[in-house]
Amino acid sequence: MNKSLEAMETHAPIRILGIESSCDETAAAVVENGYRICSSEVASQIDVHAVYGGVVPELASRRHLEAVIPVVASAMAAAGMRFADLDAVAATRGPGLAGALLVGFSFAKALAYGLNIPMVGVNHLEGHLNSVFLTHDPPEFPFAALLVSGGHTSLYHVTSHTACELLGATRDDAAGEAFDKVSKMMGTGYPGGAVIGQLAEKGDRKRIEFPRPWIDRTKFDFSFSGLKSAVARYLETRPDWKKEMPDIAAGFQEAVVDVLSEKLIRAAESSGCRRAVVVGGVAANGRLREVVREQAEKKGMKVHIPPPDLCGDNAAMIAAAGFHYFREGRRDALDADVFSRQRIG
Ligand code: KG4
Ligand code: ZN
Repeated sequence: MNKSLEAMETHAPIRILGIESSCDETAAAVVENGYRICSSEVASQIDVHAVYGGVVPELASRRHLEAVIPVVASAMAAAGMRFADLDAVAATRGPGLAGALLVGFSFAKALAYGLNIPMVGVNHLEGHLNSVFLTHDPPEFPFAALLVSGGHTSLYHVTSHTACELLGATRDDAAGEAFDKVSKMMGTGYPGGAVIGQLAEKGDRKRIEFPRPWIDRTKFDFSFSGLKSAVARYLETRPDWKKEMPDIAAGFQEAVVDVLSEKLIRAAESSGCRRAVVVGGVAANGRLREVVREQAEKKGMKVHIPPPDLCGDNAAMIAAAGFHYFREGRRDALDADVFSRQRIG
C-alpha cells in the first residue's frame, strides 16, 4: 500500500463513486481513499457493436442511457452503501465519444447536485494511470508508464497521481486499434485484442517476421499503421492464410510487443526511475506482460501491471483518480462540458 494513502487510514475513509462511459463500457464503482475497491461493475456493450465490426457512437450513447442507472445501483448495492455514505461523485469527462461521455457525466452532475456533494470530472487517461494504485503492490513515484488502449498508445514519466510528462505517443494507430484491425482482416471479430492474443498462444512467434515499427530507436514515438499494412499484404499474397492464422497472430503480436516493451524499459532507464508500469486494455495481453517482466528483470527494474480486469475500461480507476482530484480541491461546476480530446502531460 502506498505510504501516504496508508497514513490516511486513521481518518474516516473518503468514498468516491466513479462513473465511466467514454466508449463502449458503462461502469460504476465505489473506491475508498483512492485504492480500496468496495465495488466495481462493468456493463459491456460488445454485443451491440460486434455486428458492425467497431463502436457505433450513436448506439453507444443509447446503451449508456439504458445502463447507467442499473449499473450505478448495482455498484452501490455491491459496496453495501447508501448514497449518503459518498463524499463525491467522479465521472469521466474525456477524452472519448462526446455523446457517450455526456451520459455518464450528466448523470454524475445530477446525482452530485441531488446529494449536495462535489462532482469531479476525470481525464480518462489519468484514470488508466491510477489503475495501478488499485493493486496490492502500487509503484512509488516517479515511474515510466506505457498507456496502451484502443484509442491511445503513449509513454509518460509520471511524477504524482495527477502529474506526468508525455515522452512519446503513436503517430497513427493505437496498439489496441492495430490488434482490432488485424482481427477484422482475419475475420475473427471485434474487439480483436483478446482474440488475437488467444490465437497467438497457439502460434509460432518466430516463423513470420513482420517489420518492427521502431521509427527512431532513440525516440519514444510509435507507429502501427505500417505493421497493419504488412499483415494485410501478407494475407493478399497467401491464398491459404487461414491455415496460418495462429502464426500470423503470433508474428504480429510479437512485433507490437517488441516495440512497446523495449521503448518502455528504455524510458524507465533514461529517466533513472527504474520503475515500469503498463496500463490500458492492451496491458491485459499475456505476451506483453511476460516480455516487459523479462526485460525489466534483466535490468533489475520493478514492474507494476494491474490485473487484467483493471486494464480495460472500468470505473474504479476513475474513482481512484477522482479521489486525488478531490483532495487537491478540484471540483467541476454543473455547467462543465465534456471533451472528446484532451492530452495529458
Ligand atoms: O482501455 P480499453 O478498454 O479502452 C480504451 O480506452 O480504448 O482498451 C481497449 C483495447 C481494444 O483495442 C482491445 O482490442 C484491446 O484493448 N485489448 C487487447 C487485449 N484485451 C483488450 N489487446 C491485446 N491483447 C489483449 N489481451
Ligand atoms: Zn480506456
